[in-house]
Amino acid sequence: MPSRTPHTPPPYRSSWFRRAATAVAVLATAIGTAGAAPGAIAAPAPAAPTAAHPAAVAAAPDIPVANVKAHLAQLQSLATANSGNRAHGRPGYKASLDYVKAKLDAAGFTTSVQQFTAGGATGYNLVADWPGGNAGQILMTGAHLDSVTSGPGINDNGSGSSAVLETALAVAREGLKPAKHLRFAWWGAEELGLIGSRNYVNALPTAERSKITGYLNFDMVGSPNPGYFVYDDNPALEAVFKDWFAAKGVATEIETEGDGRSDHASFKNAGIAVGGLFTGAGRTKTSAQAQKWGGTAGQAFDRCYHSSCDTTSNINDTALDRNSDAIAHAVWTLSAN
Ligand code: TRP
Ligand code: CA
Ligand code: ZN
Repeated sequence: MPSRTPHTPPPYRSSWFRRAATAVAVLATAIGTAGAAPGAIAAPAPAAPTAAHPAAVAAAPDIPVANVKAHLAQLQSLATANSGNRAHGRPGYKASLDYVKAKLDAAGFTTSVQQFTAGGATGYNLVADWPGGNAGQILMTGAHLDSVTSGPGINDNGSGSSAVLETALAVAREGLKPAKHLRFAWWGAEELGLIGSRNYVNALPTAERSKITGYLNFDMVGSPNPGYFVYDDNPALEAVFKDWFAAKGVATEIETEGDGRSDHASFKNAGIAVGGLFTGAGRTKTSAQAQKWGGTAGQAFDRCYHSSCDTTSNINDTALDRNSDAIAHAVWTLSAN
């Protein structure tokens, strides 16, 4: 008997190729050619991407909101175990950073911790780079990880921290090979006046700053009486979010509650394009807003803003889910080419 090589499928060359192949297989099933009936027309093989005809942008995965909520539950436990907060200079902050860092290290990110001093205490930023992509074209995504001292900071800003973390973990799960380089960051001492992010930007040499094609900021994305606010600082970045929400049938408004009140201001001040999402803080939802978004008119978007009741009960799951999915969509779209 001649020895035979057992048939094995060829290794897929890239996640793009795998997705395209999967799409063709699904299409073949849908049109009934999967069984290769005699005379059936085979679905055409996908053409390889070239510079002139780049690959279609792969769709971002759905971010499981349960995973985002699991991170929030961990941050809540860390606050509870550390005097009820995760504030700059308090043990709950460093415990939060260690939690996020361990998840990223296990997923294959290259992490680094940047130290600074503020208010007489040591503060920390966490930066996580996804290996690969064009080192001269960096898309950054970030959220502040510190709370105020008065509470656990679950909506402000466990929500943004956890949504960005789960997006980074999705990048790893999918084995994303973006054209741009992806960098994620969790900032310290935002609540003391954007201190961590300003330290990071100030420490970057001019040549390094100019490689950052955009910075996306997520601060409060699960407010219990939510609005859907998109930063309007940069039209291209704004459009990515606006179009995504419009396609889901969710109305958006321009973010106006806090011009310069979060870490994107540190980047904008250095001339870097910024974008982001926000579901509202202490401002009151109007009746027009309640009509388009539901929720309660005449009540704050977040009645527990900067208070001890900003716990895991202070989250609207639908807002957290939509914003998490929108973050992933933006990261995938903006890094693809
Ligand atoms: N950054 C503020 C905080 O952490 C919250 C906030 C108010 C905000 N207005 C904003 C965040 C507008 C983003 C955009 O307390
Ligand atoms: Ca989701
Ligand atoms: Zn905040």
